Amino acid sequence: MRKIVIAIDGPAASGKSTTAKLVAVRLGYLHIDTGAMYRAITLRVLEEGISLEDADSIKRVAKQTKVRLERTGHTNRVLLDGRDVTKEIRSRDVTRSVSAISSYQPVRDVLVREQRRMARDGGVVLEGRDIGTVVLPGADLKIYIIASAGERATRRKKELELSGTIVDRQVLEGEILERDRKDTTRAASPLQKAADAIELDTSSLTIEEQVEFVIAKAKEIIQQRP
Ligand code: CDP
Repeated sequence: MRKIVIAIDGPAASGKSTTAKLVAVRLGYLHIDTGAMYRAITLRVLEEGISLEDADSIKRVAKQTKVRLERTGHTNRVLLDGRDVTKEIRSRDVTRSVSAISSYQPVRDVLVREQRRMARDGGVVLEGRDIGTVVLPGADLKIYIIASAGERATRRKKELELSGTIVDRQVLEGEILERDRKDTTRAASPLQKAADAIELDTSSLTIEEQVEFVIAKAKEIIQQRP
């Protein structure tokens, strides 16, 4: 059976990762979380004490740093020059700075090249901001996931609580909206819905329902074009 390329884009905390991960498991595909790659570069920039405005140093870091996603069973480990940073890249410091780092074109050039390499043979679910528009405009299935800001803040709050971090919901909602603003207004590959993407509002869907929606669309395509 033909192995297709599925692109899932959308704003912060809209349910992309959860959906992409489960769709990949169900289809036996590789899940590629491109946001994790931008987070890894951001972690390195913060560790080196580089200013978020220092374009030259950020470009150097992007060129010199190897970010890899390594499959371990059904999950991915994020490796930064071979070091496992899977947990660290979810810190709030990284989350607050990642939109600034991902707005630099040289950072995007390095990571997009790696993302296209990983997607080369199909059988992949990529999630991010620019997958359907820039990284793989020829993807077989494009989904644009959205959810209300309130629902997204509630979800992110629960997710953080699982790792022992308590944050006020209003504060989180403000941070999420600020990240959306930066991601949609930047010059380099801004977040936008591809013209041929299917919009999926997950505000009142269960995880199972949103996964089922994507799987059904994927199966239609797989069966149409063997
Ligand atoms: O999971 P969450 O919605 O919090 O964000 P993420 O997918 O981990 O992405 C973190 C950040 O990386 C985004 O806010 C974007 O600034 C950037 N990003 C991007 O520019 N392009 C992508 N393809 C993926 C992420």
